[in-house]
Amino acid sequence: MIQRRTVLKSGAALTGALGGAGLLVPAVSDAAPSSTAATTVTDLDPTTIPKFQQAMPVPQVVQPAWSSTTTSCYPMTIEEVDAQVIPGYTTRVYGFNGRWPGPVIKETAGRRALVRQYNLLNVPTSIHLHGAHVPESSDGGPMDLIESGGAKTYTYPNSQPHANLWFHDHAHHQESETVYRGLTGFYLLTDSVEQQLNLPSGAYDVPIAIRDARFDSNGQFIYQMGDLRQRTVVLANGKAWPYFNVAARKYRFRLYNTANLRFFTLKLSDGSAFQQIGSDGGLLEKPIEVTSVALSPGERADVVIDFSKYPAGTQLTLLNTATMVAEDPVALIGNVLQFRVGNPVSDTSTVPATLRTLPPLGTPTVSREFVLSMDATNTMGSALINGKAYDHNRIDTEIAYGATEIWSVRNANLRMPHNFHMHLVQFRVVERNGQPVTSGPESGLKDTVAIAPGETVKVQATFTGYEGTYVYHCHMFDHAAMGMMANLRVSKSTISGSTATRRTGGRSLR
Ligand code: C2O
Ligand code: CU
Ligand code: CU
Repeated sequence: MIQRRTVLKSGAALTGALGGAGLLVPAVSDAAPSSTAATTVTDLDPTTIPKFQQAMPVPQVVQPAWSSTTTSCYPMTIEEVDAQVIPGYTTRVYGFNGRWPGPVIKETAGRRALVRQYNLLNVPTSIHLHGAHVPESSDGGPMDLIESGGAKTYTYPNSQPHANLWFHDHAHHQESETVYRGLTGFYLLTDSVEQQLNLPSGAYDVPIAIRDARFDSNGQFIYQMGDLRQRTVVLANGKAWPYFNVAARKYRFRLYNTANLRFFTLKLSDGSAFQQIGSDGGLLEKPIEVTSVALSPGERADVVIDFSKYPAGTQLTLLNTATMVAEDPVALIGNVLQFRVGNPVSDTSTVPATLRTLPPLGTPTVSREFVLSMDATNTMGSALINGKAYDHNRIDTEIAYGATEIWSVRNANLRMPHNFHMHLVQFRVVERNGQPVTSGPESGLKDTVAIAPGETVKVQATFTGYEGTYVYHCHMFDHAAMGMMANLRVSKSTISGSTATRRTGGRSLR
Protein backbone atom coordinates (compact mmCIF):
# COMPACT_ATOMS: atom_id res chain seq x y z
CA MET A 1 0.00 0.00 0.00
CA ILE A 2 1.05 3.55 -0.58
CA GLN A 3 1.85 5.28 2.66
CA ARG A 4 1.92 8.97 3.27
CA ARG A 5 5.29 9.95 2.08
CA THR A 6 7.96 11.12 4.41
CA VAL A 7 9.40 14.34 3.16
CA LEU A 8 13.08 14.47 2.47
CA LYS A 9 15.15 15.53 5.41
CA SER A 10 17.97 17.91 4.88
CA GLY A 11 20.19 14.96 5.68
CA ALA A 12 19.80 13.60 2.21
CA ALA A 13 21.94 16.38 0.80
CA LEU A 14 24.64 14.91 -1.32
CA THR A 15 28.25 15.67 -0.68
CA GLY A 16 31.29 14.62 -2.50
CA ALA A 17 31.46 15.15 -6.14
CA LEU A 18 33.31 14.25 -9.16
CA GLY A 19 32.48 14.58 -12.68
CA GLY A 20 33.62 14.03 -16.12
CA ALA A 21 32.09 12.71 -19.22
CA GLY A 22 29.46 10.34 -18.06
CA LEU A 23 31.47 8.61 -15.39
CA LEU A 24 29.85 9.98 -12.31
CA VAL A 25 30.76 9.00 -8.83
CA PRO A 26 28.32 11.07 -6.83
CA ALA A 27 28.29 11.07 -3.07
CA VAL A 28 26.05 12.22 -0.23
CA SER A 29 26.62 13.91 3.12
CA ASP A 30 26.87 12.49 6.59
CA ALA A 31 23.67 13.92 8.02
CA ALA A 32 21.25 11.87 10.07
CA PRO A 33 19.43 9.06 8.36
CA SER A 34 15.90 9.99 7.36
CA SER A 35 14.63 6.79 8.96
CA THR A 36 14.61 8.55 12.31
CA ALA A 37 11.17 9.83 11.27
CA ALA A 38 8.01 8.85 13.10
CA THR A 39 7.88 5.37 11.64
CA THR A 40 8.43 2.32 13.80
CA VAL A 41 9.86 0.03 11.19
CA THR A 42 12.83 -2.11 11.95
CA ASP A 43 15.24 -2.56 9.11
CA LEU A 44 16.34 -5.97 8.03
CA ASP A 45 20.10 -5.98 8.48
CA PRO A 46 21.20 -6.04 4.83
CA THR A 47 24.49 -7.71 5.74
CA THR A 48 22.51 -10.84 6.70
CA ILE A 49 21.16 -11.25 3.17
CA PRO A 50 23.21 -13.95 1.44
CA LYS A 51 24.75 -13.03 -1.89
CA PHE A 52 24.74 -15.03 -5.10
CA GLN A 53 22.34 -17.69 -3.82
CA GLN A 54 19.36 -17.04 -6.04
CA ALA A 55 19.33 -17.37 -9.80
CA MET A 56 18.62 -14.18 -11.70
CA PRO A 57 15.44 -14.67 -13.71
CA VAL A 58 15.19 -13.71 -17.36
CA PRO A 59 12.11 -11.47 -17.56
CA GLN A 60 9.14 -13.08 -19.25
CA VAL A 61 8.22 -11.96 -22.76
CA VAL A 62 4.50 -11.10 -22.99
CA GLN A 63 2.63 -12.59 -25.92
CA PRO A 64 0.01 -10.34 -27.52
CA ALA A 65 -3.62 -11.32 -26.89
CA TRP A 66 -4.16 -10.84 -30.59
CA SER A 67 -2.25 -9.45 -33.49
CA SER A 68 -2.88 -8.55 -37.10
CA THR A 69 -0.50 -7.67 -39.89
CA THR A 70 -0.18 -4.13 -38.52
CA THR A 71 -1.07 -4.24 -34.83
CA SER A 72 -0.55 -6.21 -31.63
CA CYS A 73 -2.69 -5.88 -28.53
CA TYR A 74 -1.45 -6.50 -25.02
CA PRO A 75 -3.89 -6.47 -22.11
CA MET A 76 -1.96 -5.88 -18.94
CA THR A 77 -2.80 -5.64 -15.26
CA ILE A 78 -1.20 -3.43 -12.66
CA GLU A 79 -1.49 -5.24 -9.34
CA GLU A 80 0.08 -6.31 -6.10
CA VAL A 81 1.86 -9.63 -6.13
CA ASP A 82 4.08 -11.72 -3.86
CA ALA A 83 7.67 -12.15 -4.91
CA GLN A 84 10.78 -13.78 -3.58
CA VAL A 85 13.26 -10.93 -3.62
CA ILE A 86 15.53 -11.99 -0.77
CA PRO A 87 16.08 -15.60 0.27
CA GLY A 88 13.68 -16.77 2.97
CA TYR A 89 11.19 -13.92 2.67
CA THR A 90 8.13 -13.12 0.62
CA THR A 91 7.86 -9.48 -0.39
CA ARG A 92 4.67 -7.77 -1.48
CA VAL A 93 5.50 -5.85 -4.65
CA TYR A 94 3.71 -4.09 -7.48
CA GLY A 95 3.85 -5.87 -10.80
CA PHE A 96 2.59 -5.79 -14.35
CA ASN A 97 0.61 -8.92 -15.25
CA GLY A 98 1.47 -10.27 -11.82
CA ARG A 99 5.11 -10.51 -12.91
CA TRP A 100 8.20 -9.74 -10.92
CA PRO A 101 10.47 -8.60 -12.44
CA GLY A 102 8.30 -6.65 -14.89
CA PRO A 103 7.68 -8.40 -18.21
CA VAL A 104 9.12 -7.65 -21.63
CA ILE A 105 7.15 -6.39 -24.61
CA LYS A 106 9.01 -7.05 -27.85
CA GLU A 107 7.87 -4.96 -30.77
CA THR A 108 9.04 -4.07 -34.26
CA ALA A 109 9.25 -0.55 -35.64
CA GLY A 110 6.46 0.15 -38.09
CA ARG A 111 3.94 -2.06 -36.26
CA ARG A 112 1.47 -0.57 -33.82
CA ALA A 113 1.06 -1.81 -30.24
CA LEU A 114 -2.06 -1.30 -28.18
CA VAL A 115 -1.36 -1.81 -24.49
CA ARG A 116 -4.48 -1.84 -22.36
CA GLN A 117 -3.57 -1.27 -18.72
CA TYR A 118 -6.03 -2.37 -16.02
CA ASN A 119 -5.24 -0.62 -12.77
CA LEU A 120 -6.00 -3.05 -9.94
CA LEU A 121 -4.08 -1.02 -7.35
CA ASN A 122 -5.86 1.23 -4.89
CA VAL A 123 -4.00 4.28 -6.21
CA PRO A 124 -4.17 6.00 -9.58
CA THR A 125 -1.39 5.25 -12.04
CA SER A 126 -0.19 6.60 -15.38
CA ILE A 127 1.92 4.31 -17.49
CA HIS A 128 4.64 6.09 -19.41
CA LEU A 129 6.73 4.50 -22.16
CA HIS A 130 10.16 5.97 -21.45
CA GLY A 131 12.12 6.93 -24.54
CA ALA A 132 9.18 6.53 -26.90
CA HIS A 133 7.95 8.89 -29.58
CA VAL A 134 4.19 8.78 -28.98
CA PRO A 135 1.17 11.10 -29.07
CA GLU A 136 0.47 13.03 -25.88
CA SER A 137 -2.66 10.95 -25.25
CA SER A 138 -0.51 7.82 -24.95
CA ASP A 139 2.54 9.33 -23.28
CA GLY A 140 1.42 8.53 -19.75
CA GLY A 141 2.05 12.00 -18.38
CA PRO A 142 1.93 12.80 -14.65
CA MET A 143 -1.69 14.01 -14.67
CA ASP A 144 -3.17 11.58 -17.19
CA LEU A 145 -4.32 9.13 -14.58
CA ILE A 146 -5.91 5.70 -14.70
CA GLU A 147 -8.07 5.66 -11.59
CA SER A 148 -8.04 2.70 -9.26
CA GLY A 149 -10.23 0.06 -10.89
CA GLY A 150 -10.04 1.82 -14.25
CA ALA A 151 -8.30 0.98 -17.50
CA LYS A 152 -6.71 2.80 -20.38
CA THR A 153 -5.45 1.76 -23.78
CA TYR A 154 -2.14 3.26 -24.81
CA THR A 155 -1.38 3.37 -28.52
CA TYR A 156 2.28 3.06 -29.41
CA PRO A 157 2.92 3.75 -33.10
CA ASN A 158 6.53 2.50 -32.89
CA SER A 159 7.43 5.06 -35.53
CA GLN A 160 11.01 5.37 -34.38
CA PRO A 161 14.18 3.33 -34.79
CA HIS A 162 15.01 0.35 -32.54
CA ALA A 163 15.63 1.26 -28.88
CA ASN A 164 15.66 -0.25 -25.41
CA LEU A 165 12.59 1.43 -23.96
CA TRP A 166 10.84 0.75 -20.68
CA PHE A 167 7.49 1.48 -19.15
CA HIS A 168 6.84 2.69 -15.63
CA ASP A 169 4.31 4.54 -13.52
CA HIS A 170 4.41 8.33 -13.78
CA ALA A 171 1.45 9.44 -11.61
CA HIS A 172 2.69 12.66 -10.07
CA HIS A 173 3.77 12.42 -6.43
CA GLN A 174 3.20 8.67 -6.53
CA GLU A 175 5.64 7.45 -9.14
CA SER A 176 8.68 7.58 -6.92
CA GLU A 177 7.00 5.11 -4.58
CA THR A 178 5.14 2.94 -7.10
CA VAL A 179 8.22 2.53 -9.27
CA TYR A 180 10.20 1.67 -6.14
CA ARG A 181 7.56 -0.96 -5.35
CA GLY A 182 8.01 -2.45 -8.79
CA LEU A 183 6.02 -0.75 -11.54
CA THR A 184 8.56 -1.11 -14.32
CA GLY A 185 8.67 -3.25 -17.43
CA PHE A 186 10.87 -3.63 -20.52
CA TYR A 187 9.88 -2.64 -24.04
CA LEU A 188 12.41 -3.78 -26.61
CA LEU A 189 11.77 -2.16 -29.96
CA THR A 190 13.64 -3.65 -32.88
CA ASP A 191 13.91 -2.77 -36.56
CA SER A 192 15.55 -4.07 -39.73
CA VAL A 193 18.75 -2.15 -39.04
CA GLU A 194 19.24 -4.03 -35.80
CA GLN A 195 17.91 -7.34 -37.10
CA GLN A 196 20.29 -7.53 -40.02
CA LEU A 197 23.19 -7.54 -37.58
CA ASN A 198 24.28 -10.83 -36.18
CA LEU A 199 24.41 -9.79 -32.53
CA PRO A 200 23.96 -12.39 -29.76
CA SER A 201 20.25 -13.23 -29.70
CA GLY A 202 17.67 -15.52 -28.15
CA ALA A 203 18.84 -16.94 -24.83
CA TYR A 204 22.06 -14.93 -25.23
CA ASP A 205 20.30 -11.56 -25.25
CA VAL A 206 19.19 -10.73 -21.71
CA PRO A 207 17.65 -7.51 -20.36
CA ILE A 208 18.71 -6.73 -16.77
CA ALA A 209 17.06 -4.09 -14.58
CA ILE A 210 19.35 -2.92 -11.78
CA ARG A 211 18.13 -0.97 -8.77
CA ASP A 212 18.46 -0.69 -5.03
CA ALA A 213 15.99 -1.28 -2.20
CA ARG A 214 15.53 -1.30 1.55
CA PHE A 215 13.68 -3.95 3.55
CA ASP A 216 12.06 -4.24 6.95
CA SER A 217 12.58 -7.19 9.26
CA ASN A 218 9.61 -8.96 7.63
CA GLY A 219 11.22 -8.67 4.24
CA GLN A 220 8.84 -5.95 3.06
CA PHE A 221 10.00 -2.91 1.12
CA ILE A 222 10.52 0.26 3.13
CA TYR A 223 9.89 3.34 1.06
CA GLN A 224 10.83 6.72 2.45
CA MET A 225 11.43 9.59 0.14
CA GLY A 226 15.07 10.51 -0.17
CA ASP A 227 16.48 7.73 2.02
CA LEU A 228 19.07 6.73 -0.53
CA ARG A 229 21.56 5.88 2.18
CA GLN A 230 19.36 3.09 3.54
CA ARG A 231 18.68 1.53 0.15
CA THR A 232 21.72 -0.68 0.23
CA VAL A 233 20.38 -3.93 -1.20
CA VAL A 234 21.05 -4.24 -4.92
CA LEU A 235 18.47 -6.06 -7.05
CA ALA A 236 19.03 -7.42 -10.54
CA ASN A 237 15.83 -8.49 -12.28
CA GLY A 238 14.05 -8.40 -8.97
CA LYS A 239 16.42 -10.57 -6.93
CA ALA A 240 18.88 -9.40 -4.32
CA TRP A 241 22.44 -10.08 -5.50
CA PRO A 242 21.61 -13.01 -7.78
CA TYR A 243 23.88 -15.26 -9.79
CA PHE A 244 23.44 -15.92 -13.48
CA ASN A 245 24.70 -19.00 -15.29
CA VAL A 246 26.30 -18.22 -18.63
CA ALA A 247 27.84 -20.40 -21.29
CA ALA A 248 31.41 -19.59 -22.30
CA ARG A 249 30.45 -17.42 -25.27
CA LYS A 250 29.23 -13.89 -26.10
CA TYR A 251 26.16 -12.45 -24.44
CA ARG A 252 24.27 -9.26 -25.10
CA PHE A 253 23.01 -7.60 -21.91
CA ARG A 254 20.64 -4.68 -22.02
CA LEU A 255 21.37 -2.95 -18.75
CA TYR A 256 18.74 -0.65 -17.27
CA ASN A 257 19.10 1.55 -14.22
CA THR A 258 15.59 1.44 -12.77
CA ALA A 259 16.61 2.84 -9.38
CA ASN A 260 14.85 5.84 -7.96
CA LEU A 261 18.02 7.74 -6.95
CA ARG A 262 21.11 5.56 -7.19
CA PHE A 263 23.76 5.90 -9.89
CA PHE A 264 25.64 2.74 -10.87
CA THR A 265 29.03 2.34 -12.50
CA LEU A 266 29.25 -1.27 -13.58
CA LYS A 267 32.41 -3.24 -14.18
CA LEU A 268 33.61 -6.83 -14.15
CA SER A 269 35.50 -7.98 -11.08
CA ASP A 270 38.55 -9.02 -13.14
CA GLY A 271 38.63 -5.62 -14.83
CA SER A 272 38.14 -7.14 -18.27
CA ALA A 273 37.08 -4.97 -21.16
CA PHE A 274 33.76 -5.54 -22.88
CA GLN A 275 31.94 -3.83 -25.71
CA GLN A 276 29.29 -1.20 -25.35
CA ILE A 277 27.12 -1.33 -28.45
CA GLY A 278 24.20 0.88 -27.51
CA SER A 279 22.66 3.37 -25.11
CA ASP A 280 19.16 4.71 -24.43
CA GLY A 281 18.03 5.21 -28.02
CA GLY A 282 19.47 2.11 -29.65
CA LEU A 283 22.84 1.14 -31.06
CA LEU A 284 25.87 3.39 -31.19
CA GLU A 285 27.41 3.98 -34.60
CA LYS A 286 30.33 1.75 -33.65
CA PRO A 287 30.97 -0.54 -30.70
CA ILE A 288 33.31 0.90 -28.11
CA GLU A 289 35.60 -1.03 -25.85
CA VAL A 290 35.01 -0.12 -22.23
CA THR A 291 35.89 -1.43 -18.80
CA SER A 292 32.85 0.15 -17.16
CA VAL A 293 29.48 1.70 -17.93
CA ALA A 294 27.93 4.49 -15.88
CA LEU A 295 24.15 4.61 -15.59
CA SER A 296 22.13 7.28 -13.85
CA PRO A 297 18.49 6.46 -13.04
CA GLY A 298 16.55 5.79 -16.24
CA GLU A 299 19.60 5.33 -18.47
CA ARG A 300 20.40 2.17 -20.41
CA ALA A 301 23.57 0.59 -21.76
CA ASP A 302 23.61 -2.22 -24.31
CA VAL A 303 26.75 -4.31 -23.88
CA VAL A 304 28.33 -7.50 -25.22
CA ILE A 305 30.44 -9.54 -22.83
CA ASP A 306 32.47 -12.44 -24.18
CA PHE A 307 32.84 -15.21 -21.59
CA SER A 308 34.67 -17.57 -23.98
CA LYS A 309 38.07 -16.79 -22.48
CA TYR A 310 37.08 -18.03 -19.03
CA PRO A 311 37.47 -21.66 -17.95
CA ALA A 312 34.29 -23.43 -16.88
CA GLY A 313 33.67 -22.78 -13.21
CA THR A 314 34.88 -19.19 -13.27
CA GLN A 315 32.88 -16.84 -11.07
CA LEU A 316 32.92 -13.20 -12.05
CA THR A 317 31.12 -10.44 -10.22
CA LEU A 318 29.45 -7.49 -11.85
CA LEU A 319 30.53 -4.72 -9.51
CA ASN A 320 29.19 -1.25 -8.89
CA THR A 321 31.98 1.23 -8.26
CA ALA A 322 29.80 4.33 -7.85
CA THR A 323 29.23 5.37 -4.28
CA MET A 324 26.73 8.06 -3.36
CA VAL A 325 27.26 8.61 0.34
CA ALA A 326 30.55 8.81 2.14
CA GLU A 327 29.79 5.71 4.18
CA ASP A 328 28.07 3.76 1.41
CA PRO A 329 28.79 0.14 2.34
CA VAL A 330 30.86 -1.15 -0.54
CA ALA A 331 30.36 -4.75 0.59
CA LEU A 332 26.67 -4.22 -0.16
CA ILE A 333 26.14 -1.65 -2.90
CA GLY A 334 29.46 -2.55 -4.51
CA ASN A 335 28.06 -5.89 -5.69
CA VAL A 336 25.36 -6.41 -8.30
CA LEU A 337 25.36 -10.00 -9.50
CA GLN A 338 27.65 -12.95 -10.15
CA PHE A 339 28.23 -14.56 -13.53
CA ARG A 340 28.98 -18.31 -13.30
CA VAL A 341 30.70 -19.41 -16.45
CA GLY A 342 29.89 -22.88 -17.77
CA ASN A 343 31.06 -24.84 -20.79
CA PRO A 344 31.75 -23.32 -24.18
CA VAL A 345 28.93 -23.51 -26.71
CA SER A 346 29.06 -22.63 -30.36
CA ASP A 347 28.76 -18.96 -31.06
CA THR A 348 28.30 -17.58 -34.56
CA SER A 349 27.26 -14.11 -33.39
CA THR A 350 29.43 -11.14 -34.24
CA VAL A 351 29.76 -7.52 -33.24
CA PRO A 352 30.44 -5.66 -36.49
CA ALA A 353 32.68 -2.59 -36.65
CA THR A 354 29.74 -0.49 -37.86
CA LEU A 355 26.41 -0.87 -36.12
CA ARG A 356 24.22 1.87 -37.57
CA THR A 357 24.16 5.36 -39.02
CA LEU A 358 22.65 7.96 -36.75
CA PRO A 359 20.06 10.35 -38.15
CA PRO A 360 21.51 13.73 -39.16
CA LEU A 361 21.73 16.24 -36.31
CA GLY A 362 19.87 19.09 -38.00
CA THR A 363 20.54 22.78 -37.63
CA PRO A 364 19.48 24.30 -34.32
CA THR A 365 17.56 27.58 -34.46
CA VAL A 366 16.79 28.10 -30.77
CA SER A 367 18.86 27.74 -27.66
CA ARG A 368 17.55 27.66 -24.12
CA GLU A 369 19.04 27.43 -20.69
CA PHE A 370 17.82 25.35 -17.79
CA VAL A 371 19.10 25.26 -14.24
CA LEU A 372 18.42 22.31 -11.95
CA SER A 373 18.58 23.11 -8.27
CA MET A 374 17.54 21.64 -5.02
CA ASP A 375 17.54 23.36 -1.66
CA ALA A 376 19.16 20.82 0.61
CA THR A 377 18.48 23.00 3.67
CA ASN A 378 14.76 23.11 3.01
CA THR A 379 13.10 20.27 4.86
CA MET A 380 10.12 20.55 2.53
CA GLY A 381 12.56 19.39 -0.08
CA SER A 382 11.78 21.64 -3.01
CA ALA A 383 13.51 20.71 -6.24
CA LEU A 384 13.36 23.20 -9.07
CA ILE A 385 13.93 23.80 -12.77
CA ASN A 386 14.73 27.45 -13.51
CA GLY A 387 13.67 28.34 -9.98
CA LYS A 388 10.22 26.81 -10.25
CA ALA A 389 8.62 23.66 -8.92
CA TYR A 390 6.44 21.63 -11.28
CA ASP A 391 2.98 23.03 -11.91
CA HIS A 392 0.96 20.85 -14.24
CA ASN A 393 -1.11 23.88 -15.31
CA ARG A 394 1.91 25.89 -16.40
CA ILE A 395 3.57 25.56 -19.79
CA ASP A 396 7.22 26.28 -19.19
CA THR A 397 8.61 25.93 -22.67
CA GLU A 398 6.73 26.71 -25.91
CA ILE A 399 8.29 25.00 -28.90
CA ALA A 400 7.54 25.50 -32.57
CA TYR A 401 6.60 22.23 -34.24
CA GLY A 402 9.57 20.97 -36.21
CA ALA A 403 12.12 23.16 -34.44
CA THR A 404 15.61 21.91 -33.66
CA GLU A 405 16.80 23.31 -30.35
CA ILE A 406 19.82 23.21 -28.11
CA TRP A 407 19.08 22.98 -24.42
CA SER A 408 21.87 23.81 -22.05
CA VAL A 409 21.17 22.18 -18.71
CA ARG A 410 23.21 23.11 -15.66
CA ASN A 411 23.25 21.35 -12.32
CA ALA A 412 23.53 24.25 -9.88
CA ASN A 413 24.02 21.98 -6.90
CA LEU A 414 27.56 21.51 -5.72
CA ARG A 415 27.09 18.13 -4.10
CA MET A 416 23.92 16.65 -5.55
CA PRO A 417 23.99 14.88 -8.89
CA HIS A 418 20.93 15.15 -11.12
CA ASN A 419 20.03 13.94 -14.53
CA PHE A 420 17.77 15.19 -17.28
CA HIS A 421 15.12 13.32 -19.20
CA MET A 422 12.82 14.58 -21.95
CA HIS A 423 9.64 12.92 -23.12
CA LEU A 424 8.72 12.75 -26.83
CA VAL A 425 12.24 12.97 -28.24
CA GLN A 426 15.52 11.15 -28.45
CA PHE A 427 18.17 13.84 -28.17
CA ARG A 428 21.88 14.04 -28.78
CA VAL A 429 24.37 15.10 -26.16
CA VAL A 430 26.38 17.68 -28.07
CA GLU A 431 28.52 19.13 -25.29
CA ARG A 432 29.55 18.35 -21.74
CA ASN A 433 31.20 21.21 -19.82
CA GLY A 434 32.10 22.96 -23.03
CA GLN A 435 33.69 19.87 -24.58
CA PRO A 436 32.02 18.52 -27.72
CA VAL A 437 30.73 14.96 -27.41
CA THR A 438 31.58 13.23 -30.67
CA SER A 439 32.43 9.73 -29.56
CA GLY A 440 31.97 7.46 -26.59
CA PRO A 441 28.91 6.13 -24.78
CA GLU A 442 27.02 9.44 -24.96
CA SER A 443 27.42 9.90 -28.69
CA GLY A 444 24.31 7.91 -29.67
CA LEU A 445 20.62 8.69 -29.29
CA LYS A 446 19.79 9.51 -25.69
CA ASP A 447 16.72 10.36 -23.67
CA THR A 448 18.34 10.71 -20.26
CA VAL A 449 21.68 12.25 -19.40
CA ALA A 450 23.61 12.41 -16.14
CA ILE A 451 24.69 15.83 -14.86
CA ALA A 452 27.23 15.75 -12.05
CA PRO A 453 27.32 18.58 -9.49
CA GLY A 454 28.27 21.84 -11.18
CA GLU A 455 28.23 20.37 -14.67
CA THR A 456 26.55 21.78 -17.76
CA VAL A 457 25.35 19.51 -20.53
CA LYS A 458 24.05 20.65 -23.90
CA VAL A 459 21.54 18.46 -25.67
CA GLN A 460 20.01 18.90 -29.10
CA ALA A 461 16.57 17.68 -30.14
CA THR A 462 14.14 18.11 -33.01
CA PHE A 463 10.49 18.43 -31.97
CA THR A 464 8.49 16.86 -34.69
CA GLY A 465 5.89 14.14 -35.17
CA TYR A 466 3.36 15.26 -32.57
CA GLU A 467 2.01 18.47 -31.18
CA GLY A 468 1.19 18.43 -27.49
CA THR A 469 2.33 18.87 -23.93
CA TYR A 470 5.03 16.64 -22.48
CA VAL A 471 7.22 16.79 -19.39
CA TYR A 472 10.94 16.97 -18.88
CA HIS A 473 12.46 16.26 -15.50
CA CYS A 474 15.22 14.90 -13.33
CA HIS A 475 14.86 11.11 -13.43
CA MET A 476 15.82 10.71 -9.81
CA PHE A 477 12.15 10.11 -9.08
CA ASP A 478 12.21 11.57 -5.60
CA HIS A 479 13.51 14.81 -7.14
CA ALA A 480 10.80 14.82 -9.82
CA ALA A 481 8.18 14.23 -7.13
CA MET A 482 9.63 17.18 -5.20
CA GLY A 483 9.12 19.43 -8.20
CA MET A 484 12.10 19.02 -10.53
CA MET A 485 9.86 18.65 -13.57
CA ALA A 486 8.34 21.03 -16.13
CA ASN A 487 6.10 21.10 -19.20
CA LEU A 488 7.06 21.68 -22.79
CA ARG A 489 4.41 22.27 -25.44
CA VAL A 490 5.02 21.63 -29.13
CA SER A 491 2.65 23.52 -31.36
CA LYS A 492 2.34 24.46 -35.00
CA SER A 493 1.05 27.88 -33.92
CA THR A 494 4.21 28.70 -32.01
CA ILE A 495 6.65 30.76 -34.06
CA SER A 496 10.19 29.54 -33.63
CA GLY A 497 12.54 31.97 -31.99
CA SER A 498 9.95 34.60 -31.03
CA THR A 499 7.08 34.06 -28.60
CA ALA A 500 8.40 30.72 -27.69
CA THR A 501 11.83 31.71 -26.64
CA ARG A 502 10.81 34.80 -24.71
CA ARG A 503 8.63 32.77 -22.41
CA THR A 504 11.45 30.65 -21.17
CA GLY A 505 14.19 33.17 -21.58
CA GLY A 506 15.67 31.36 -24.52
CA ARG A 507 17.30 33.23 -27.32
CA SER A 508 17.03 32.89 -31.02
CA LEU A 509 20.19 31.85 -32.76
CA ARG A 510 19.27 33.56 -35.97
CU1 C2O B 1 11.14 7.47 -17.28
CU2 C2O B 1 9.13 11.00 -17.36
O1 C2O B 1 10.13 9.18 -17.33
CU1 CU C 1 10.15 9.24 -20.12
CU1 CU D 1 17.76 15.41 -9.39
